[in-house]
Amino acid sequence: MAHQESTPKGGLRSDRWFGPDDLRSFGHRSRMMQLGFSEDEFRGKPIIGILNTWSEINSCHSHFRERAQDVKRGVTMAGGLGVEMPALSVDESFTKPTSMLYRNMLAMETEEMIRSHPFDGVVLMGGCDKTTPGLVMGALTAGIPMIYLPAGPMLRGHYAGKILGSGSDAWKYWDERRAGNITDEEWLGIQGGIARSAGTCMTMGTASTMTAITDAMGLTLPGASSIPAVDSGHQRMSSDCGRRIVEMVREDLTPDKIVTRAAVQNAAITAMATGCSANAVVHLIAMARRAGVDFSLDDLDALGRSTPLIANVRPAGKDYLMEDFFYAGGLRALMKQLEERLHTDCMTVTGKTLGENLQGAQVYNDDVIRPLSNPVYHEGSLALLRGNLCPDGAVIKPAACDPKYYQHEGPAVVFDSYPEMKAWVDDESAEVTPDTVMVLRNAGPQGGPGMPEWGMLPIPKALIKQGHRDLLRISDARMSGTSYGACVLHVAPESYVGGPLALLRTGDIVRLDLPNRTLDMLVPDDEIERRRAAWTPPEPRFQRGYGWMFSKHVMQADKGCDFDYLQASFGAAAAEPDI
Ligand code: FES
Ligand code: MG
Repeated sequence: MAHQESTPKGGLRSDRWFGPDDLRSFGHRSRMMQLGFSEDEFRGKPIIGILNTWSEINSCHSHFRERAQDVKRGVTMAGGLGVEMPALSVDESFTKPTSMLYRNMLAMETEEMIRSHPFDGVVLMGGCDKTTPGLVMGALTAGIPMIYLPAGPMLRGHYAGKILGSGSDAWKYWDERRAGNITDEEWLGIQGGIARSAGTCMTMGTASTMTAITDAMGLTLPGASSIPAVDSGHQRMSSDCGRRIVEMVREDLTPDKIVTRAAVQNAAITAMATGCSANAVVHLIAMARRAGVDFSLDDLDALGRSTPLIANVRPAGKDYLMEDFFYAGGLRALMKQLEERLHTDCMTVTGKTLGENLQGAQVYNDDVIRPLSNPVYHEGSLALLRGNLCPDGAVIKPAACDPKYYQHEGPAVVFDSYPEMKAWVDDESAEVTPDTVMVLRNAGPQGGPGMPEWGMLPIPKALIKQGHRDLLRISDARMSGTSYGACVLHVAPESYVGGPLALLRTGDIVRLDLPNRTLDMLVPDDEIERRRAAWTPPEPRFQRGYGWMFSKHVMQADKGCDFDYLQASFGAAAAEPDI
């Protein structure tokens, strides 16, 4: 694994800043005193960076200002010094075109801020979708002891006696509103009730999936990912993170001892059993690769086929939300069900093995966390497809789609842009049947750019009015973890770089065969070759700036969409600063 040397045998990393009797260190010590710290508060003490993705426009992290104080309390109690540092607050709700454009920016920031500052260990505060992989990817490369503090899910949504789930119910009620079944007053009530406390989306969307993955990998305190954001247990967990990171520094418990191939497999198995967001595929692969673990779509598919979905949490599950999941025992209880399939000897941030952390975990409601003998769905949450439309893979969530589409053949209607597609779905005279296969392209990592969450293409109005709520849809985009439906996502290579999706035409027949994991266009090979020869690449979307750099360096979905030059294998790790 390529990472920097962590706490040196001879002492604390921060001693390189504060220890020497030279002019440079005099400057560092002087500036700590300018911050109001006495020498005995920082010299020879573990300095803990608290990387906080709080911002006033990140609704999921609005409690993080106070939580940073809880972390500091814990750090101080354990004899360290906690210093808070802002990190890019990549929020899911407001960022256009997609927060995914900035995951790698956060990862770079995290890596560089850790590398360049006098930290002996870090607490990473994140939770809203891309913040988890962004922070973890950067910290894995930086390589010093780290612990992840998940924001925790928000409370259940609520309106007029109905429980509301983040995302999922927004899509559902929006379709009802388009069908003319919801008044303005009801719509306003839903708007105010669907997100009513601090915390991340409380369905098993990308946020809950990614924090569960990080928990299962051994990077959070056991079960931390399930604690609701506004539960006082969340404050105690935050303080515990502070205490524990100081001990981790003293134990030199670096992430390379935690994030092994076995730990990544544990994370993947757990994700499959939770009904995870399709986004997990991209992020888990990216995180694993940062740790030097080669983890592929095929690994995921194999685990998906053999792991039943046992968390009855929406959108893949039917009835419950994250708050119910916590009361039912949370992630530790879910992992306890899976114990025989997990590598329980993996090391975790507690300094104990996963198996030790799971001791005593119990399920308190076996309708929410099902036994393996009574799963929500007999296989895992995600399936990998290959075929002449997606030679490097595509992803679908079988449990979230109408089974009538598991084996399907139908004519494609192809759109090159989101506005073009949107105009068509709103046109009530559009020619469409339940067999139609909607296709959106130029929405991949480079084409989007940033692979926006457009993959749950809206059902055409004409079909909605006839009572249809699902349709086979295909794109090189992602979809929100709270989305559902027969949506094939992450088609690789993407159309923008000339992947076969670019060669599909309206009227071509597309065949999905989920049991056999294939996705093909029924177009003769010689015709495909003719189209390929005639294809010309689209204009680049960005001529300058971050977007230009993003498009030049982002890798395809099956590789995790990291930048090529940030991969562990790209070059030797940067040396620790010595001046
Ligand atoms: Fe932040 Fe869903 S918008 S987790
Ligand atoms: Mg999301």
